[in-house]
Amino acid sequence: MKRYEHGKLHPVSLTLNGAQRCAHAEPRMLLSDFLRHQLGATGTHVGCEHGVCGACTVRIDGVAVRSCLSLAVQAQGRRVDTVEGLSGREQELNDLQQAFRRHFALQCGFCTAGILMSCSDFLQRVPEPTEQQVRDMLSGHLCRCTGYTNIVNAVLEVADNRTKEKRRMEDA
Ligand code: FES
Ligand code: FES
Repeated sequence: MKRYEHGKLHPVSLTLNGAQRCAHAEPRMLLSDFLRHQLGATGTHVGCEHGVCGACTVRIDGVAVRSCLSLAVQAQGRRVDTVEGLSGREQELNDLQQAFRRHFALQCGFCTAGILMSCSDFLQRVPEPTEQQVRDMLSGHLCRCTGYTNIVNAVLEVADNRTKEKRRMEDA
């Protein structure tokens, strides 16, 4: 296992939203700070900084993780996806983002980036969730504005649309 010297800057190379990026970090630098301050990916928000609110959630190798509980050096060589990577090349919103907008599933938006990243991981693992499963997944996120119901509705709608589309493709 690589040893990181305390107080020294170490190069960290990773794939951020499909692009190769490299910057330096001290061994104790949080991944959330690295993404925001070293790589300029400020879509990742920081709330509690101790793993409770979920605002800082990103995907590492496809799996949703709290970037405030991860060290930048742990992301060395990994694929990291943040909310900036959800939209397409022309910056059009993806289906999940569009559903959030349609259902008024955000107000101040502070929690939204993290919730979107958890949802995108969740829907890959659980493509046809029940409402209770969606609510259980969202229990890892604090939102002070929406009351959650609109978020649940948005996620269920996307799951339903994706399932219908998949079946349509299979039948074609
Ligand atoms: Fe990471 Fe709250 S900032 S969980
Ligand atoms: Fe404001 Fe969730 S939309 S905290």
